[in-house]
Amino acid sequence: MNVLLLGSGGREHALAWKMAQSPLLDKLYIAPGNAGTATVGTNLPISATAFDEIKKAVKQYAIDLVVVGPEDPLVKGVHDFFLADEELKNIPVIGPCKHGATLEGSKEFAKNFMIRHNIPTAAHCSVTAANIEEGFAFLAKQTAPYVLKADGLAAGKGVLILNDLEEAKSELKNMLDGKFGAASKTVVIEECLKGIEMSVFVLTDGEGYVLLPEAKDYKRIGEHDTGLNTGGMGAVSPVPFADKKLMDRIEKEIIKPTIAGLKQDGIPYCGFIFFGLMNDNGTPKVIEYNVRMGDPETEVVIPRIKSDLLQLFVAAANKSLSKEKIEINPYSATTVMAVSGGYPEAYEKGKEIRFDESFADSTVFHAGTILDNGVVKTSGGRVLAVTSLGENKDEALKISYKNIAKIHFDKMYYRRDIGADL
Ligand code: AMP
Ligand code: GLY
Repeated sequence: MNVLLLGSGGREHALAWKMAQSPLLDKLYIAPGNAGTATVGTNLPISATAFDEIKKAVKQYAIDLVVVGPEDPLVKGVHDFFLADEELKNIPVIGPCKHGATLEGSKEFAKNFMIRHNIPTAAHCSVTAANIEEGFAFLAKQTAPYVLKADGLAAGKGVLILNDLEEAKSELKNMLDGKFGAASKTVVIEECLKGIEMSVFVLTDGEGYVLLPEAKDYKRIGEHDTGLNTGGMGAVSPVPFADKKLMDRIEKEIIKPTIAGLKQDGIPYCGFIFFGLMNDNGTPKVIEYNVRMGDPETEVVIPRIKSDLLQLFVAAANKSLSKEKIEINPYSATTVMAVSGGYPEAYEKGKEIRFDESFADSTVFHAGTILDNGVVKTSGGRVLAVTSLGENKDEALKISYKNIAKIHFDKMYYRRDIGADL
């Protein structure tokens, strides 16, 4: 079969790399892809949100299945676009329709969904300019730090965590005044959860699901979790504290009620659900839902899946996932992300990437790269993810760090403490 994958990051390279290993695959196209995806498929110069151009490519290349990597096309309704088109409606799309994607596209929608279906999460108060006083009163009842979230998508920047009550009140006002544009016209204020974060992923067809390996992401730019938030600087899987008892609670109290809740609310769903969780001494709570895989979590989750990912996608499209079994590699996977100097603030692009020597014991997933006249250059803040497998996380980390030291580009930076807290 011919597959079209939408997106251009490390997540998409990992998904493409895995699908390329499937005997079910004839041709793989990636729109727009990066220099890494070009080594396992054919890149198409089409944006992941240019729906009319995507339609042309689907017809031209006789695409049988579409896999959506990032949230943006989902929240903009790419799946709905396919269903509404006579020529596309029978081509399965892995990724939810707009309604389901609202779990990520609106924090207020997600909170109301969790309350409706008794899914454990932080207490919250939803505020607009009309009830700002209610927001001030909710803040005054909380203890520091104060968590303010733009309701809509704000390129990963819409969450503020503040230590001072007066600052929190003033930022609430700024957000409602449009600090994050339309995304913060509604603000969700949350109780601050205590504990340690982890991420859990399922692929679901709305009825059955397969549980993928869990992961832990390192979000801050600086070592020991300091400095600005990024998309993620590295990840490990499995998560040592996610024992059977905790995972059983997560399935029973969070995953199953979420999938049942979607069904009960009449929201068809075919795709990934990413549960961002806080583990407070064995009690899991949902911090957020995402309607896609995580990045860089995908770069450690996918290499641990032994099963044929494309076969799982086909089963999801046929609504037969409940009959599928997923086989997981018991080894640990780690990834360390090489980023452009300055990221997550302003950074330069177009730097040539050089390898001192080649290596076979890590897989390098490209996140922000382009091929410029045969030369691989940086084209984003997060550039490359160096993934390794080992008998335990320390073995895997040793290999990732040995190999990332062989990669060079001007002003390259990476965190040296991924997984060190576990
Ligand atoms: P989100 O975009 O909702 O995942 O929030 C970004 C980050 O802010 C999360 O990964 C957490 O580190 C932190 N965060 C968000 N909500 C809370 C909360 N209610 N309590 C504690 N930390 C939070
Ligand atoms: N690494 C976090 C995310 O993909 O949202």
